[in-house]
Amino acid sequence: MTSTSSAAQNTRVPDDIAQAVVLPESYGNETEITYPAFAWLRQNMPVGQAFVEGYDPLWLITKFDDIMTVEKNHSLFNATMNNPILNTQAGDTFLRSLTPDGSIRYLDALPFLDPPEHTQIKAATSNWFTPKNVAKYTERIREIAREDVEKLLSYDGECDWAADFALYYPLRVILGLFGIPQEDLGLMLKLTQDFFGANDPDEKRDDIEVSPEAAARQFQAAFADFFAYFDQFTEDRRANPKDDLMSVIANAKVDGEFLSRGIVNGSYLQVATAGHDTTSSTISAAALAMARNPDQWQKVREDHSLIPKMVDEAVRWGSPVKHFMRSASEDTVLHGVQIKKGERVMLNYPSGNRDEDYFTNANEFDLERSPNKHLGFGFGGHMCIGQHIARLEMNILFEELLPKIRKIELVGEPKPIKTNFVSSYKSLPVRFTKA
Ligand code: HEM
Repeated sequence: MTSTSSAAQNTRVPDDIAQAVVLPESYGNETEITYPAFAWLRQNMPVGQAFVEGYDPLWLITKFDDIMTVEKNHSLFNATMNNPILNTQAGDTFLRSLTPDGSIRYLDALPFLDPPEHTQIKAATSNWFTPKNVAKYTERIREIAREDVEKLLSYDGECDWAADFALYYPLRVILGLFGIPQEDLGLMLKLTQDFFGANDPDEKRDDIEVSPEAAARQFQAAFADFFAYFDQFTEDRRANPKDDLMSVIANAKVDGEFLSRGIVNGSYLQVATAGHDTTSSTISAAALAMARNPDQWQKVREDHSLIPKMVDEAVRWGSPVKHFMRSASEDTVLHGVQIKKGERVMLNYPSGNRDEDYFTNANEFDLERSPNKHLGFGFGGHMCIGQHIARLEMNILFEELLPKIRKIELVGEPKPIKTNFVSSYKSLPVRFTKA
């Protein structure tokens, strides 16, 4: 397939580079595959069109400034014309088959909305997510952090940091804030894995052949189960509001009316899932960086005021969210390149976060990096609503961890999930020395 716009402008990305950015398997080895591809693109083709078999053609945006331009301009680059999350053509056809009107909005949640709807729905709950409000939960979060640090110490020197530790803490925090019973932890974990982390080729079950119709039925049944699960909470929280996030969403109103059932359940799902794998991924990225840079671990142990800097650097360095997509609402020009109405652009956050114009020695983890205005939480109207919770819970975790752990060492290969969307680690084998 060719595109007149990319052929005329000579902006066709070489196939190996296109595959390195687009295919989920590339993200199993970012150091050798995706980061060099991003560096090549920033240097040679900051706005280039990728053609990868099985995917719609898409523009890869790799420079910090260009990502910002797209993020800031909601009306020119929308989130609704196409899937805001990169999927294969077959995957998108399947998702469209789930909606009555064939639209790609298979979930009524913020990333799938544009203004004015997006602005109204986000405003209806955003007060709860402010730094001042989330700070009220500090002690509750600290209790969870203490319990989890104790559990980590009980492993007696060696564990899988990702699978035994980092996976659970953010999930327990978000369930606590939500007001979901802790015994439903397994259910929520499954939810994330089923709906949002599913493109790791290693996780695909080749032994099960299902027809598209059967797959659609299964997916819809899973949705229906979760909607039924959440509906009971909505009813309860409207009748008896509590001091939890579920009550905030259940009772949020636009123009004096409760949010629709779809938006309420979509918001629960979105926050519950977006709220934990991103954060656990960052906690693992921080541990990996600290194992490789013991002097920096020592430094932050001696000076806890560096913890917030370490956390933000882990978000930049690890960039757990690999992309979001937008579509051009009109013909436009970005970085001198013509983009046509309806064409899709991929915002490559890990690349923006390694842009040489903004970050020196960007592949290095620098505890004291300053300035560190990164794109790990995105930017503009869709910027991460949960960033202050994420920072707070990670700051608290490291405040509890640092006095107890003198040293972290890597004792095996880190295994990242192979996904082009929200990454995490399947495994991060470490040895730690108690203080
Ligand atoms: C280190 C942890 C996290 C990272 C790196 C992260 C990153 C991101 C990014 C890159 C976006 C897209 C921004 C854009 O399109 O410009 C986003 C959106 C979002 N995040 Fe986070 N996130 C994290 C934690 C959380 C938490 C803890 C929550 C909830 C409690 C959350 C809820 C959301 C929601 C609801 C959106 C959609 C916002 C919108 O479309 O308007 N995230 N996040």
